[in-house]
Amino acid sequence: MATPDDHALRPLTPADFDAAWALGVEAFGAPPAGSPATPPPAQPRPGRHAWGTFDADGRLVAKVVGLELASWFGGVPVPTCGVAGVAVVAERRGDGLLADLFRAVLDEARARGEVVSTLYPTAPGIYRRLGYELVGALDQVELPTAELLRVRAPAAGPGRVTTRRATPADAEAVRCVYDRWAAAQHGPLTRRGPLFPETDEEPFADLTGLTLAVDGDSDSDGDGDGEVLGYAAWRRGEGYDETSTIEVDDLLATSADAYRALWRVIGSFSTVTGRVRLSTSGDDPARLLLPGGSWKVVGTHPYALRLLDVERAFALRPPAGPSAGATELSFTVAGDTLGHLDGDYRLRVADGATACERGTADGPTFTPQGLALAWAGVQSCANLRMLGHLTGPASRRAARRRPGRQCGGPDAPGESDLPHRPVGGDLTSPGDIDPPPSSREAAPDRAAARARSPRRSRHDSRSATAQAEARLVGVRGAPATNLETR
Ligand SMILES: CC(C)(COP(=O)(O)OP(=O)(O)OC[C@H]1O[C@@H](n2cnc3c(N)ncnc32)[C@H](O)[C@@H]1OP(=O)(O)O)[C@@H](O)C(=O)NCCC(=O)NCCS
Repeated sequence: MATPDDHALRPLTPADFDAAWALGVEAFGAPPAGSPATPPPAQPRPGRHAWGTFDADGRLVAKVVGLELASWFGGVPVPTCGVAGVAVVAERRGDGLLADLFRAVLDEARARGEVVSTLYPTAPGIYRRLGYELVGALDQVELPTAELLRVRAPAAGPGRVTTRRATPADAEAVRCVYDRWAAAQHGPLTRRGPLFPETDEEPFADLTGLTLAVDGDSDSDGDGDGEVLGYAAWRRGEGYDETSTIEVDDLLATSADAYRALWRVIGSFSTVTGRVRLSTSGDDPARLLLPGGSWKVVGTHPYALRLLDVERAFALRPPAGPSAGATELSFTVAGDTLGHLDGDYRLRVADGATACERGTADGPTFTPQGLALAWAGVQSCANLRMLGHLTGPASRRAARRRPGRQCGGPDAPGESDLPHRPVGGDLTSPGDIDPPPSSREAAPDRAAARARSPRRSRHDSRSATAQAEARLVGVRGAPATNLETR
């Protein structure tokens, strides 16, 4: 269904702030009582591109926001259009206003060079016809604080990992740890760019503490200024009994001992906080250091992805390491209602590089959702065929070149080339091969966002979408998430 002829579609400006805010409140609920008023911005906010649909009387009836982001996939930062603040005025829901709005926002994103788009759907069905499919989730996990006391201590000796409280002077070291950690995952935001904190102080504004795990080897004088190997960003919360919960937004590290040291610091709160709540995603390596079995998912925000530019999206993914060899795969994409993806492509992996260009139609056909699932590496080609997201002939060329390799499915020889197994992004060991991503591995952003405005002013306590969008935009000190729904 197209936007009615008497409706206008255009970018929102600061002059539309009140109408956009009201539509955001209608869709996602009012900000918490006592929140400071949010003034209209004097200028369009950098990195944020809002579009609206206006009816014949000039009333804003629908809106969508595109956010300039980038996500780590396979060790490569992939330019990403985060979509947020999707709302249609109550009386116009079901009129099909979203498709044209999305086309406008995503056309603009493609022109900026973004190659995938991601969002946290309140219902996946809203976005399937627009080519999005679920590739992961941001989870809230709870565990008893006392269990952390049983985490093994870091190895003793002069190089022992120690911990200390971070200050804004450590902000760059924290960003570097995050970069190294995120580059080895699939899906987390880079947390760089116009939507992320500009000052070193911002990330600390809403935390009780940011604890560093520090390498003892590089800290010869024992003053704690050795290399930062990990960090935990935490908020203590209220009360001091078994009902109290300490919230951990990020607990991430680049060594097992750093994880252990951080877990043990959080565990030291066991006498005063009964539970720990961690923001996490996918198969979090932090879990692999826990001796106990508790890992209770108490909340989840599904995460969906679509491709915007097939050639660039595949070209950005490195080949699957030494075992990949040279291979070619032809495929077709059909059914993109937004008109970006349909066509025939040829993917070539050779000499350590991946190239994707327009080709001829002699391979299988992906739906846009199937392509999203394959590119993100979260479903096998056999599953895609089962679901109707992959049809037609399998690539014979790929099968001939890799006769001994297990196929993606009985009717899909060669399709195991898709998805790639991305090269590990650990900057200390380029060339490592990641295991195949699991269905929950695409990890949007495991940090609870810290708004530029104080936490109490965030408009995320009543709306799952607002909370999820908070994660989408990011890291501690991320943009004011209360605005992202407006
Ligand atoms: C979600 C919302 C934007 C959908 O608006 P809408 O006017 O129904 O959208 P459209 O008519 O363009 O329909 C788009 C698709 O969404 C589907 N859809 C709408 N509401 C849905 C729901 N609750 N569950 C599953 N699918 C839904 C429609 O069936 C349609 O699917 P189709 O393209 O396969 O036919 C609107 O209901 C709204 O503003 N809700 C409150 C805020 C919200 O949830 N926003 C989404 C944030 S992620």
